[in-house]
Amino acid sequence: MHILLIDDNSDLREIISMNLQSLGYIVTEANDGAEALNKLDEKKWYCIISDLQMPHISGLMFLKIIRERGLKIPLIFITGFTNIIETEEAYRLGAQAFITKPFEPEELNKKLIEVESYNNIVNRPETDIELEDYYCKIHIDEFVMGKKIIYPVFLKLSSAKFVKIAHTGEDLDQAKIDAIKKHGVEFFYLENADYNNYLKRNITIARRLLAFREIKDEKKREFFISICKNIVEYEFHHDISSETLAMSLFAIHNTLKFISEKKDFFQALHSLHQFSPSIAEESLLVSLIASAIALQSKEFNNKTVINVSLAALFHDFGLKELPKNLSELPIEKMTFEELKLFKTHPQLGCQLLASIKDTPEVVTQAILHHHEHADGSGYPFGIGRMKIHPIARILAISDFLATSWALHANKDASFKSIILLLNDKKEIFDKDFIKAALELIHDTEPLLKTNF
Ligand SMILES: [Fe+2]
Ligand SMILES: [Fe+2]
Repeated sequence: MHILLIDDNSDLREIISMNLQSLGYIVTEANDGAEALNKLDEKKWYCIISDLQMPHISGLMFLKIIRERGLKIPLIFITGFTNIIETEEAYRLGAQAFITKPFEPEELNKKLIEVESYNNIVNRPETDIELEDYYCKIHIDEFVMGKKIIYPVFLKLSSAKFVKIAHTGEDLDQAKIDAIKKHGVEFFYLENADYNNYLKRNITIARRLLAFREIKDEKKREFFISICKNIVEYEFHHDISSETLAMSLFAIHNTLKFISEKKDFFQALHSLHQFSPSIAEESLLVSLIASAIALQSKEFNNKTVINVSLAALFHDFGLKELPKNLSELPIEKMTFEELKLFKTHPQLGCQLLASIKDTPEVVTQAILHHHEHADGSGYPFGIGRMKIHPIARILAISDFLATSWALHANKDASFKSIILLLNDKKEIFDKDFIKAALELIHDTEPLLKTNF
């Protein structure tokens, strides 16, 4: 495999060249960009390694020229110091990697392995298409398609060159996406027709939930993105009007933003996630459903719905104080003693949340009541409908829907069919909020005429 090595410092060039040869590469040297340009057509280059600071034609200029010529050869820059602006510019222009002087041979080897994966991606020749208007771009951080690719995904190499990086049915998991991102890639592209379907299927949820770029702390952002991704896997948005969905997503987004800004809340959510990712993710789903019901019921406005969404996110917070195996056990399989312990989680959650400064009282009340039933058959107090906090009444319904849905997930149930289960739950749940939940699904007329 041929490597073109460009550096105006002949001593350094010699050392790198020797390193590369020991790794099995055949090296051609050039003293500067101009000399290198003359050698471009000589061979099929596996990779170009170039100094960034050179006389006459700088490394950046060289890169620009080869990309303008439509050449996809990977380029690794050697930099004497880290210059953010140049690095960013170089990534934008399509450099694959950087290596800072002085470096060890192993480091260079690592970069070359990265180049190999890049080469594998870009050298699928049959997929080059030369029509820019044919594609729509999606920011790589907002890209959500679930586990298997349903539409082919492309990268843009130049305004005239797109290359398919994932075929329908292939896996494009987060590790692969991260590897691609490392190469400075910012956008994925879909063919126009697919993009429209992608929008309908995903974007309302994905965009809004995953648009956490305004959260400055990178670690927090990653955390939120990771818990939100699973929600996106659910396809319940087909059954809910896009307007309601957009509003509830907006509500959750605000809630998560609020949490990210309050250290104690963030730590609380983080600790719940650490205790059990599935409880945290399901709570997020409960939060989404609860916000939708709250807004549909017209009893909450955009500002107060944050309390519903917050209470929903932490409704099962008390579970993390119990033995982990208990939280995973189905209720029917619990012994009397285990059940008794399990039923303390609303109080535990309420106490924990109350100890966090700034928790609205309505939120702790709602958590305390989230397992109470309208007919008095719930716990911990067995109180009747009028005494149950209104937010808790929404939580009970949303919790039921989220849990039922998780149970039906493998059976291809639609969200609509899950909501319809509420028709049999009018004794234990609040009738007004059941009505609001039923209104969420599109063709509500026949249902509304009955029983209310
Ligand atoms: Fe609970
Ligand atoms: Fe729950």
